[in-house]
Amino acid sequence: PGEDFGQFVNLRDGWIDRNIFSDPDIYQEELHRIFARSWNFVAHESQLPNAGDFLTTYMGEDAVIVSRHRDNSIRVFANSCPHRGNKVCFADAGNTRRFVCNYHGWSFDNAGELSGMWAEQAYDEGDIDKSQTKMMPVAQVASYKGLVFATFDPDAPSLENWLGDFRWYLDMILDNEEGGTEFVGGCIKSEFSANWKFGVENFIGDAYHAGWTHDSGTRATTGGAPFPEIDMETSYHASINGHGWEFGTEGVGDIGLLGSPEVMDYYNKIRPKMAERLGEMRSKIFGSVASCSLFPNISFLPGISTFRVWLPKGPEAFELRTWVLVNKAMPDELKQEITKRVMLTFGPGGLFEMDDGENWSNCTTVNRGVATRRQLLHYGSGINRRIDNHPILPGTVYRGQYNDSNQRLFYQRWVDLMETKSLKDLPQRPEPRMASRETRELT
Ligand code: FES
Repeated sequence: PGEDFGQFVNLRDGWIDRNIFSDPDIYQEELHRIFARSWNFVAHESQLPNAGDFLTTYMGEDAVIVSRHRDNSIRVFANSCPHRGNKVCFADAGNTRRFVCNYHGWSFDNAGELSGMWAEQAYDEGDIDKSQTKMMPVAQVASYKGLVFATFDPDAPSLENWLGDFRWYLDMILDNEEGGTEFVGGCIKSEFSANWKFGVENFIGDAYHAGWTHDSGTRATTGGAPFPEIDMETSYHASINGHGWEFGTEGVGDIGLLGSPEVMDYYNKIRPKMAERLGEMRSKIFGSVASCSLFPNISFLPGISTFRVWLPKGPEAFELRTWVLVNKAMPDELKQEITKRVMLTFGPGGLFEMDDGENWSNCTTVNRGVATRRQLLHYGSGINRRIDNHPILPGTVYRGQYNDSNQRLFYQRWVDLMETKSLKDLPQRPEPRMASRETRELT
């Protein structure tokens, strides 16, 4: 691919080159330029409440341990022994004082520092500097209202800058008067034969597929009612730094088709407080049919409560990890009800997950065809519907939920990351503008 990744994405006319979904060289560059430099989601703080708690996950294809240190900080380091590189921790999660390598018995504390060695007499004075021999730490770790992120790049902008004003949107799910959020239950893992970007772009803005792909699933869960009509005048796409949220502003109650009357009652009860805290507009967005992704590989459905990462496992495979995100102070029976609904729709056996997975897998396989690849893919929906300087909504805003704009802007960010030599030079997209009344409420 060389250095010109802009050749694969045309924002002006709205097309994408199919090669980015299967080319192994492009995939390798994505691991280097995107996953090894971006802020990757690694945990929710509720997963690590006590000193010694840990979990294992991936940043790109790099295995990492996320660990609560005795000083209460969260540390993230490569799950690889500095001796011969063996994987040190094979558990998904747990609590421990140290991680011990199977191969020669070196042990490491909750910060990944070398704390003990089997048969230490093998090493003479000067052979090894124990203070410098550790499991490789990431460059930066930071949290935003319960979500923990890490990056391998010391030059990555702060998490605050990386998220930018997208925090205005994120606060709809993270900032509540109920003690914040938590994950309930465990992590569900499933494997897909598809390129990781199909999951991300589907959640970032593809409202268009929902009424068609999920028609039978919707009717099965609603007693025959179809997916709600999209009002193109009062719904939007909004994008900041490649993160995107597509939503309605008048659709309160629409998610009732995937939630339950009890859950909708609860949302309607907390809505006035939300309006006081976050403004009228956000209280109306919350509860509409909406979906979101954070660049590069995190997605969630606000209100429906599935939260997920698409972990790349090669150009044509990813592992999906999902959790159920709820308000901490919600009654337990509602947490159970939400969990049940998530499993019914977006668990591995869920009606909607299976619909999507089949499409993404076929898109990936067919896009690989050597002649087929010569044709560009159409991403032009709503290309002329941009609204400049919306009085409330921050970011690049387009009218109409049926739109490819968030997808186009995700791929613009993809080009930014693929082409920018140092993340010190990473642009903000869009350029920050004067905050509106409601954006100023951002803390
Ligand atoms: Fe871990 Fe040798 S590879 S102790």
